[in-house]
Amino acid sequence: MDGVKAHPTQKPEALLARVLLSASNPGDVILDPFFGTGTTGAVAKKLGRQWIGIEREKEYITYAIKRISAAEASAEDTITLANKREEMRIPFGWLLEHGFLKPGAELTDAKGKLSAKVHADGNIITGNHRGSIHKVGALLQNAPSCNGWTYWHVKRNGKNVPIDDMRRELRAQIESGAGSATIQ
Ligand SMILES: C[S@@+](CC[C@H](N)C(=O)[O-])C[C@H]1O[C@@H](n2cnc3c(N)ncnc32)[C@H](O)[C@@H]1O
Repeated sequence: MDGVKAHPTQKPEALLARVLLSASNPGDVILDPFFGTGTTGAVAKKLGRQWIGIEREKEYITYAIKRISAAEASAEDTITLANKREEMRIPFGWLLEHGFLKPGAELTDAKGKLSAKVHADGNIITGNHRGSIHKVGALLQNAPSCNGWTYWHVKRNGKNVPIDDMRRELRAQIESGAGSATIQ
């Protein structure tokens, strides 16, 4: 922000968003007695909360005020984050238990160049690598992490689609009550 530096220990907004989403509801008032450059206030505004900040350094107060005025209260952010928080966690193994995938099924990257086989225990295997969809995806790309749900694809009706599609379908099935009896 113009002329003023961010706080040296400014907190990531994503972290604050997780805290506020798990501990408050839209419309609640959030008090941060060590406001710094106002991360709490900016995130509170974006998530439809009220806020009160206490800060002794004028410079940080000026920065915080500008920053919060620039933050948009976005219904979309609120809804996206809230839905993410509320989404039921689906372990990869459930795709097997619910018949979306069979042991031995082939997963590939989006281009169909790298592949791995699904094991009955919910791990996947390729070459010397064996582990979760995330771990093996990261190892193959030499990356620190990987979202296996979007990295791995399967052929469905002749099209290469991410396994995340199956996760979404299974979640919808369970939430509608169609598959809940088999989930422990
Ligand atoms: C770790 S920083 C907070 C950083 C903030 N979470 C952010 O993201 O920008 C703590 C802040 O508390 C303020 N502070 C410490 N003691 C205070 C006091 N007694 N009254 C008011 N502010 C105080 C400091 O000036 C400092 O900016």
